[in-house]
Amino acid sequence: MNHITKRFGAVKVLDNVSLRLESGEVLSLCGENGSGKSTLMKILCGLYPHGEYEGSIHFAGDEIQAQTIRDTERKGIVIIHQELALVRQLTVMENIFLGEELGRFGIVDDETMTLRC
Ligand SMILES: Nc1ncnc2c1ncn2[C@@H]1O[C@H](COP(=O)(O)OP(=O)(O)OP(=O)(O)O)[C@@H](O)[C@H]1O
Ligand SMILES: [Mg+2]
Repeated sequence: MNHITKRFGAVKVLDNVSLRLESGEVLSLCGENGSGKSTLMKILCGLYPHGEYEGSIHFAGDEIQAQTIRDTERKGIVIIHQELALVRQLTVMENIFLGEELGRFGIVDDETMTLRC
């Protein structure tokens, strides 16, 4: 994510933020309440579409100009929202694939989904 700036009306909540992740890297984004962590992730996943922020996003070499969350999901970017409902009885993996379970002939393939996580 390169030089991301996001405003809600007159309020600038992200000011020229850049974030780089390598394949396989696990990264924690830490900051005070209201510092803009969720907003940055909503931009990454397409919830705030291209055009509603300044800056650019590249994923695996390609520029992403997502209009919907579907556009990023197709590329393998999946967000688990902070506030929205997780199914507590399901595992992290099951929540990630909720509604998009992998499998064949109506049988869910846990092994493949675990490998993809
Ligand atoms: N849809 C919105 N409209 C207007 N302001 C918003 C909106 N979403 C977030 N904000 C404001 O943008 C700022 C960043 O919010 P954001 O939710 O990204 O912070 P956060 O770092 O995820 O906070 P928390 O640690 O509480 O989850 C806050 O000041 C928040 O009030
Ligand atoms: Mg948040």
